[in-house]
Amino acid sequence: MDVKIYEYDAVIVGSGLAGLAAAKELTEAGKKTAVITKLHPLRSHSGAAQGGINAALGKDDSTELHEFDTVKGSDYLADQDCVELMCTKAPETIRWAEQMGAVFSRDEQGDIAIRPFGGQSQPRACYAKDRTGLTLLQTIYEQAHRAGIEVFDEWYAGDIIYEDDKVSGVVAYDIKNSKPAIFNAKVVMLATGGHGRAYRFNSNAHANTGDALSIVARHGLPLEDMEFVQFHPSGLGGSGVLISEAARGEGGRLFNSEGERFMTKYAPNAMELASRDVVSRAIMEEVRQGRGVGKDGQSVNIDLTHLDPEIILTRLPELRELAIAFQGQDMLKEPIHISATAHYSMGGIPTNINCQVRKSPTEFVEGFYAAGECSCVSVHGANRLGANSVLEALLFGRHAGENMLKALDDGLSLRKASVSDADTMIEEMNRLKTSGGNESVPNIRVELQDGMTKNAGVFRTKESLEEQVALIDTLQAKFANICIDDKSNTFNTDLQEALELGHMLEFSKFIVVGALNRNESRGGHFREDFPTRDDENFLKHTYAYMDKDRNITQEWGDVVIGKFEPMERTY
Ligand code: FUM
Repeated sequence: MDVKIYEYDAVIVGSGLAGLAAAKELTEAGKKTAVITKLHPLRSHSGAAQGGINAALGKDDSTELHEFDTVKGSDYLADQDCVELMCTKAPETIRWAEQMGAVFSRDEQGDIAIRPFGGQSQPRACYAKDRTGLTLLQTIYEQAHRAGIEVFDEWYAGDIIYEDDKVSGVVAYDIKNSKPAIFNAKVVMLATGGHGRAYRFNSNAHANTGDALSIVARHGLPLEDMEFVQFHPSGLGGSGVLISEAARGEGGRLFNSEGERFMTKYAPNAMELASRDVVSRAIMEEVRQGRGVGKDGQSVNIDLTHLDPEIILTRLPELRELAIAFQGQDMLKEPIHISATAHYSMGGIPTNINCQVRKSPTEFVEGFYAAGECSCVSVHGANRLGANSVLEALLFGRHAGENMLKALDDGLSLRKASVSDADTMIEEMNRLKTSGGNESVPNIRVELQDGMTKNAGVFRTKESLEEQVALIDTLQAKFANICIDDKSNTFNTDLQEALELGHMLEFSKFIVVGALNRNESRGGHFREDFPTRDDENFLKHTYAYMDKDRNITQEWGDVVIGKFEPMERTY
């Protein structure tokens, strides 16, 4: 097969905030940089981030308070050196974005407007109405484009070139015509975003299938802390589509079917602005106890009708439109139905503070970087605070770009790729296209998603997780026996969905096995059979590895503790 080999200084997979921030840095410094993305950059899921980006800009706020809130919110699993870097650089990152042209909302004094978000001691989510991610994405795209980045959009990255502890490129194909190519590079960065589509009820775009996670794992490299999945408290009742935490930040109140403002029972001080893990569990507990609302009783109400309509119309216009479009509910006039929705992956591809990918807790891969949601640096630990992810993506994306640049300037050389480096991806494409079985990709995907929501969701037990491991093994066997209808080479979405499903099945097992081995409850991981945090045995990062038979083994890694000693979380 004809396989073109491109040569670059840097290749970045993913074109959300993290990927574009890195690409801009590298390109402006004169490095030949390619960005590979299965979407157009402006359709990246960063654009769906609604409520804000954290920075300690308020007069009573400080970077140290931001650090403390982040570490406490993480249930003490975040690495505190990385948290310190993120929080101290946050104000400068906002100025950087503003100087590039990002238009933030303003307060009466003309300063960048900030709103409260969950788990914050002081309001610190800077925002652009309820379209913060989109505003930032458009800005960084314009600037990266102006700098001259080369974008290969609607290209699917199917493999990395990894040998002798070094990554030297990416193997991808053009979705338009299925033609494969090799992107040979001195440095490679993965910034492919989240994996929420592994769950049935989720807030993620269809593209968020976590491909990079299993691509890395297939080479025997570890994934870190995969058991920590964030369930956002407010997904629209039927669909899971995000209703930003800004709705609660602006004063939204939660009620059950009995009209009780139930957060008084679960977090009497922080109420609706307790951290996400706490509010999500409270919602699901009310539903479990039969106090849900909606046709199926699976939701609770969020009520904003007591707010001045001007607040909704000027600060939450998108949310109002979404609730009307998806549910026919107008938040100006009535409460709307919401439920906890799979939202964010705290775990991912492990990196050090400079975004370089780890081969083990203590070893690194040359020329290989990751940032944003697909990575685990780890600043979120067991539970991310709202509005820290846009910050992490932008800040660590740029930071990764700077570190890649340094590696290039230090003389990192190009290891030449050969056409055979594309063999694995091409064989996989051919196998899926020619597989003559009788199982369907959509059916397997739905079974996986339903199982993940039911067995590895907000509440988990040993039994539910064992059931999910068995289900994934069964689905893997079915996956070996699929048949896809479209045999063509032109925009073959059947093929792409099969590739994505293969990835989802693999990384989902990391989530479930990690959850099974972590016999405690911490942040977003709640084991009903081990309902308390156990620092003595589990104040540790999980590093999990997949062998050729897709068995998962684990080892533990140290958490970097700094100035904040683990304490009990109170709300
Ligand atoms: O609720 C939100 O606006 C989501 C923000 C985030 O996940 O950081």
